[in-house]
Amino acid sequence: MLYINLNRKSTTSLTQQIYEQIRGDILNRELKEGERLDSSRGLSSTIGVSRNVVLEAYDRLIAEGYVEVRPRSGTFVAKGSSLPLHENNVHRDQRMFRTDSEPKLIDFRGGNPAIDQFPRKKWGQLTKEVCGEAPDRIFGYGEPGGIEELRITLAKYLQRVRGVHCDPEQIMITQGATQALRLITELLIKDGISIAVEDPVTDEMRNIFINAGADLFPVPVDENGILPEHLPKGKKLGFVFVIPSHQFPMGGILSIQRRVQLIEYARKMNNYIVEDDYDSEFTYEGAPVPSIQGLDPERVIYVGTFSKILSPALRVGYAVLPAHLVEAFRNLKWFHDRHTASIDQLVLSRFIEEGYLDRHVRKMKKIYRKKREILEKCVLSSFKEAKTIGKAAGMHLVVDIPGATFTDDIVNKIKEKGVHIYPVEQYALKKGMHKQQIIMGYGGLTKEEIIEGVEELKRCLDMNKYRQ
Ligand SMILES: Cc1ncc(COP(=O)(O)O)c(C=O)c1O
Repeated sequence: MLYINLNRKSTTSLTQQIYEQIRGDILNRELKEGERLDSSRGLSSTIGVSRNVVLEAYDRLIAEGYVEVRPRSGTFVAKGSSLPLHENNVHRDQRMFRTDSEPKLIDFRGGNPAIDQFPRKKWGQLTKEVCGEAPDRIFGYGEPGGIEELRITLAKYLQRVRGVHCDPEQIMITQGATQALRLITELLIKDGISIAVEDPVTDEMRNIFINAGADLFPVPVDENGILPEHLPKGKKLGFVFVIPSHQFPMGGILSIQRRVQLIEYARKMNNYIVEDDYDSEFTYEGAPVPSIQGLDPERVIYVGTFSKILSPALRVGYAVLPAHLVEAFRNLKWFHDRHTASIDQLVLSRFIEEGYLDRHVRKMKKIYRKKREILEKCVLSSFKEAKTIGKAAGMHLVVDIPGATFTDDIVNKIKEKGVHIYPVEQYALKKGMHKQQIIMGYGGLTKEEIIEGVEELKRCLDMNKYRQ
């Protein structure tokens, strides 16, 4: 009997899902040559679809030679329809486009953007243009710091949108903010030197620092971001890592007074501020606060990424460095991977230069604002005593439910029901202060998923009596 797993919420048609799964089973030799397929009538009733849907999928498999009809006997896997397994030769197109027919987890991870909104058409068009028109040098080895076109475009964009002051030579294009932060750590952290980080802090960035050999010095945050008076007075730091536009995870937007305090501290202690500005474009309340870098370009290393405003798959980010660090950073980048892919950089440069990025950000801001409203409304109507924190920007907010305790056990139980939530405790260095708080990212979820996810969360908390 065939085992077909249908996802009725998927945008892939049921016919296509049936076709792909049977074809996959044949290619993987789970269905062997000569094996009989279920009758179309039998399969349609087992999986609850109309017979025509199954017939259409079978017709396609017949037309492509995967199966054959034997009169009055049925439909069978055709001879020679798959390669021997030891050749490890699963068909190319199957590997290229894995289907998404698996039941989907409603994943409230913070920082997942709406990848369904990626401007595929425009990006494709520009890629075609770049491949046709770009000078030959773009197809050769490039500068470790990135192509000049993108650095010039980015310098203008960052000045206009984020108040970043720099020459294009100070911009180093990297494989996302991840690589930028890794290289900065390698550059500035020597044995026994620590990095001050906000507490709680993103696990990904924390792991990058630890993996590069740094010790961490936790500095508490409140609803307005890092508390600079808690920075160490007598200890030499490599740098202070902050996310001032929308602290992760607590969502605070750092006030100008605290920004000034940070700069004063860095000057006095002769170290740097590393400013991660990963989702600052999405500010919903008030005007976006300009970067800290603009206050002191000699003391601040500014890090940005296109993972959130466009797509993490691009792997394009950047660091804006004080001029005296540029050469050393460029050398390190060369040793890591020579340079970031030049063709994508040129496409991105045109995308920004021709105004498509501004347009895309405007559109995404509306979409995220709407999703944020839906999430907040659902949360507040499901949990009367709940409070939402850090919602003025970004793609996530923190939900505080008095009386709740988000232990691993309850998180796993909720996950078993198809919903993934993220306790703030998981990101805290000093444990025990955030037990009733969870991060709820809404960027990558649909309206329906947000509603269903919150309903399931409520059901699970009520059922498991994890609330008083
Ligand atoms: C705080 C923070 N900054 C930046 C990023 C983006 O990293 P990348 O540009 O490597 O995708 C992330 C990813 O989730 C993040 O959590």
